[in-house]
Amino acid sequence: MKRRSARPFGSLLTAALLAVSAGCTQHKPLGESIFHDGRGEHGRLAFAQGPKWLAHGAFGCATCHAPDGTGRTVRAGKISGSAPSITAGALLAKGYDRQLLRRALAQGTSPDGRLLNGYMPRWSMTDAEFTALADFMAGL
Ligand code: HEC
Repeated sequence: MKRRSARPFGSLLTAALLAVSAGCTQHKPLGESIFHDGRGEHGRLAFAQGPKWLAHGAFGCATCHAPDGTGRTVRAGKISGSAPSITAGALLAKGYDRQLLRRALAQGTSPDGRLLNGYMPRWSMTDAEFTALADFMAGL
């Protein structure tokens, strides 16, 4: 009771967000769900390459690139990979636009045509999923 009355706007906001998402099966907005949990419109996103453990839980971009997108070193047993920063500023500096981002996610190609390390999964996404993800990442 005490917490509730102390944060009336939080409750109102939650109610509003629940109302907005009532028609969807997602609890989080789509872009956020993909980034943090690897879950798209119809459950877990399909991907090729990448480490096998990725298929065993709710893992998304944040698992390797950190929740704020600034990147980190990921270890799986003896294998480790360095996941770079993918904040909006970092991607802009590397020459990414939306089209090139989509190509990197699907085909693993950087703006200058370099093939990304196999630790970075190749993701299958619908147009709606990519748009939601790119919109979310624009805020990182
Ligand atoms: C299993 C770990 C892992 C996951 C999960 C992952 N990445 Fe990556 N990602 C990497 C690694 C490692 C690289 C570096 C590849 C390289 O530079 O050769 C990378 C590179 C990238 C790049 C290229 C950055 C650059 O510097 O050119 C982008 C963009 C990117 N990831 C976006 C994403 C997005 C968006 C997701 C979620 C849909 C995601 N990644 C999920 C590991 C991961």
